[in-house]
Amino acid sequence: MTWWKNAVMYQIYPRSFQDSNGDGIGDIQGIISRLDYLKELGVTGIWLSPVYESPNDDNGYDISNYQAINPEFGTMEDMDQLIEEAKKRNIHIVMDLVVNHTSDEHKWFKEALKGKENKYRDYYIWRDPVNGSEPNDLVSMFSGSAWELDEDSQQYFLHLYSKKQPDLNWENPAVRQEIYDMMNFWLEKGIGGFRMDVIDLIGKEPDKLITGNGPKLHDYLQEMNQRSFGNYDVMTVGETWGVTPEKAPLFASPERNELSMVFQFEHLTLDEKPGTSKWDLLDLDFLKLKQVFKKWQTELPDDTWNSLFWNNHDTPRIVSRWGNDEEYRERSAKMFAILLHLMKGTPYIYQGEEIGMTNQPISDIKEAEDIESINLYYERLDQGYSHEEIIRSINAKGRDNARTPMQWNDDKHAGFTEGEPWLKVNPNYKEINVENNLERKDSVFYTYQKLIELRKNNPIITQGTFKLLFEKHPQLFVYERQYDNEIWIVIANFSEEQCDVTLDEMNNGFEMIMSSTGKEPSNYSKFKLEPYETLVIKNQ
Ligand code: GLC
Ligand code: CA
Repeated sequence: MTWWKNAVMYQIYPRSFQDSNGDGIGDIQGIISRLDYLKELGVTGIWLSPVYESPNDDNGYDISNYQAINPEFGTMEDMDQLIEEAKKRNIHIVMDLVVNHTSDEHKWFKEALKGKENKYRDYYIWRDPVNGSEPNDLVSMFSGSAWELDEDSQQYFLHLYSKKQPDLNWENPAVRQEIYDMMNFWLEKGIGGFRMDVIDLIGKEPDKLITGNGPKLHDYLQEMNQRSFGNYDVMTVGETWGVTPEKAPLFASPERNELSMVFQFEHLTLDEKPGTSKWDLLDLDFLKLKQVFKKWQTELPDDTWNSLFWNNHDTPRIVSRWGNDEEYRERSAKMFAILLHLMKGTPYIYQGEEIGMTNQPISDIKEAEDIESINLYYERLDQGYSHEEIIRSINAKGRDNARTPMQWNDDKHAGFTEGEPWLKVNPNYKEINVENNLERKDSVFYTYQKLIELRKNNPIITQGTFKLLFEKHPQLFVYERQYDNEIWIVIANFSEEQCDVTLDEMNNGFEMIMSSTGKEPSNYSKFKLEPYETLVIKNQ
């Protein structure tokens, strides 16, 4: 089986992982110094958020040179060393590929600004004004119009993100070839593949207001595969916010020669009001959550691989979002871990998730670093929302929540830096940190370690069938995996109340595989689960 089907990936947000030189910013040498920790956790791949040269308007997702390392993070030699040191530990480095847009400080865009005749003009998307203003109503993900006027030429350029992130013109074959060449440069260095940033936008047709899943998208991905990574033993995962189980095979069915897998986000949209935005909060509907997982576990064709995740650098921390990050922090963190890691697909752990790190609430917009939250704040104030209401949305969904520095120990700034951290460390680091997790056998860390180990040794996890049980139960999340003659049942109490469980037909011969509390029921046909308690049992 391809290596990435058995892999467990770990996402590193380099700015916040480990600083090695006291400037308050995480860096590549910092990552290298923590590889042994990741080896101990057991992960086999790292998805590295962007480390390329960038003016940091969107923390590295605005790239000004794809073939240079941001000096804040180190040098190309450091990067080569990271790839090599990771390889020694059987860890693949998967790079972030951000090619829907560049930075406005990329040399292509600087050239493009020189005028309509410039060779690079057509690397971006330009339109004349319509009736003296923006060509149409497309909006930026970071608030306001997606069109920005270039005064000199009196044309607008498209930016689906910040105006410092102009969209590349994928219809131009020269743009595509430059990107494939750049990808080959990285592939030749021996990386493990690419995570493809908002890749479902590259086939856009802005004049028809089509952004996601545009008509040319799959032609481009097939061409990209052929001219770059298709010739290497690597994995690719597309960030595809709009994907459905019907569309996923278009990206990830092997016979189409596109990507290895995609990230689907359906479960993460359940706590927003339908048809609005992530900032318009709604309580989680637990029954729907179970249905969404059931759908993604059972409706993909057999040959289409899946990915699994609860959080990343763009989303709040799961334990604060849908668990209880106070009284039941560790127990709920373990529940999320077990529920996800025993499903089919490649799991992704976001840095700090493995020690149960939590969100970092703010009360003043001045505490925010992220452009998305800051723009949202002022836009919504203008629209008449109250300060409290906006801050509530930002605390629930803002991206800084996940970006606070990694908590390594209880020294000053959590062992992240000896200087002043670029973003404040969560004050709970004295209690929540790696050192403390490593010292306690019942910590969240060891739950993750065990889950990764189980995945390596039990084909039922990667290949077994999935069946959701107790579908309508308001507290229990229960599912069964089956492979050959083996059956595993995962039983989680997704609530703060005790819960009775009755397993009538399955009352014979159970063996405990894992218990989040370390306890084992004396009678498997009828037992009680404590809040968030989670069990994995095997039927023999
Ligand atoms: C993706 C990234 C996010 C970034 C955006 C624009 O969604 O994950 O962090 O802001 O793309 O590149
Ligand atoms: Ca540093």
